Amino acid sequence: MSLAVEEDIPLSALLREGTRADHGAANSEDFIEQLLSGALNRAAYADLSAQLLLVYEALEAASATVRDDERGAGLVFNELTRVPAIEQDLAYLYGPSWRDEIETLPATRDYADRIRAVSGSLPHYAAHSYTRYLGDLSGGQIVRRMMKQHYGLDGDGVAFYTFPDIPKIKVFKDAYRNRLDSLALDQDEVDTTLTEAHHAFHLNRVVFTALAEIHC
Ligand code: HEM
Repeated sequence: MSLAVEEDIPLSALLREGTRADHGAANSEDFIEQLLSGALNRAAYADLSAQLLLVYEALEAASATVRDDERGAGLVFNELTRVPAIEQDLAYLYGPSWRDEIETLPATRDYADRIRAVSGSLPHYAAHSYTRYLGDLSGGQIVRRMMKQHYGLDGDGVAFYTFPDIPKIKVFKDAYRNRLDSLALDQDEVDTTLTEAHHAFHLNRVVFTALAEIHC
């Protein structure tokens, strides 16, 4: 039996500690730093939203599968569903013909492809769900404030970072972590989750690098 199971460290704690360095690297990417400091523009933010659409379409298609999984169903929350919010943001940011205007980057297609490729596996899903949704509920709230401050986006255009069905974000994040910790994964699956979470952060960074080439 390996260390994590022996010491009974909850999965949420393993993920938090295990991805701390990945997190630091992701949020110091040029694109993120410049976007948050006000050095970019609405077009850069809109492009990020366009990339997120593809990622969440893949993630939320996977959620539909996990919902039927005996162990995984508890990790799927309707309150987190983001695709309609992103579509609303894109309609505001690009106008009514947004579907013809948005451009999806190869890096984003790779990210979405990866989510689709592993979507039947609960540990992989848990890693991707954790990386995106807990991030949106955490740093995402900072992003929302900065987009208002620097680019005047408030309500319209930032629905993605707004969770109307989650009244207390901290309480919800604790509940989400409890669900992660109740997944009853075996040690191999825990290892898979951690490995895939590193990969998920990496895939996000590659998208940010591609966005930086365009906007920074
Ligand atoms: C945009 C810049 C970012 C900022 C300012 C930021 C900030 C934060 C902060 C302050 C927390 C801690 C919240 C808490 O303790 O409750 C956090 C947590 C988190 N962030 Fe970020 N973040 C950023 C980008 C990202 C990115 C790009 C990802 C991954 C795609 C990400 C994923 C996460 C995750 C998964 C957590 C939860 C950690 C845990 O408690 O297990 N963040 N972020």
